[in-house]
Amino acid sequence: MHSDRNFKSPKSEQAVTEKQVISKQRVADHGEVLTGQREVNAMLDLVKNETENIESRFLEPACGTGNFLAEVLVRKLRVVAERYGKSRHDFEKNAVLAVSSLYGIDILEDNVIECRKRLFEIFDAAYTGLFKNAATDECRNAARFILSKNIIHGDALQLKTVSPKPRPIIFSEWSPVNGSMLKRRDYMLSFLVEKQHQLSLFSDEGGVPDLNEPVKEYPLIHFLKVADAEQPEL
Ligand SMILES: C[S@@+](CC[C@H](N)C(=O)[O-])C[C@H]1O[C@@H](n2cnc3c(N)ncnc32)[C@H](O)[C@@H]1O
Repeated sequence: MHSDRNFKSPKSEQAVTEKQVISKQRVADHGEVLTGQREVNAMLDLVKNETENIESRFLEPACGTGNFLAEVLVRKLRVVAERYGKSRHDFEKNAVLAVSSLYGIDILEDNVIECRKRLFEIFDAAYTGLFKNAATDECRNAARFILSKNIIHGDALQLKTVSPKPRPIIFSEWSPVNGSMLKRRDYMLSFLVEKQHQLSLFSDEGGVPDLNEPVKEYPLIHFLKVADAEQPEL
């Protein structure tokens, strides 16, 4: 095993972070001006403790290619590597947990694809950098699967997916249970937003839907098998 736990981000990472405007058209259509690394760092430093807390959840509602999420993941994985870099199992569990704590939405599909890929590469650079040939595809696939659920092609104003048949955006909450198990609960984003705005209105009123209710719960599952619980949609 490699003793240096200060892993380097993948090479492609620099290229992604340097570009702030992709085209004038995209700026005009979608206000797409990506935040520079210096500003990202300065803003995240304001919540430094949270960025270094493996389980603290972050949502970037117009995430672009994930400039904030990428830096949060780098910071969290640094902590995971420092604490758990000597044990592959412990590193995997906590690195997957770090990945599962990050959420993003963007209206442009290429941004969503790039964001997932970028976060995966950061995860994989840390993981494979530390454990080399002992790193497994099973763990990589668990991280990939969670990213496919957490980074959503959607409209953060309408709270709906972007597709010919838009649906309410649903986010999965991933909670560690009994060491290596994960509990997945799906929530509608509109409920979570409502809850923020209307908590006082709804409290203690009978007959009002419980905004804390998940729309779906999954059985406990080992974190490496997390993708196995998903039934294909008919
Ligand atoms: C100013 S950029 C910020 C990107 C990223 N958060 C950053 O700081 O680098 C705005 C992003 O919001 C996306 N966007 C615009 N309208 C949106 C909407 N209604 N829902 C979700 N994303 C949207 C654009 O595609 C673009 O990627």
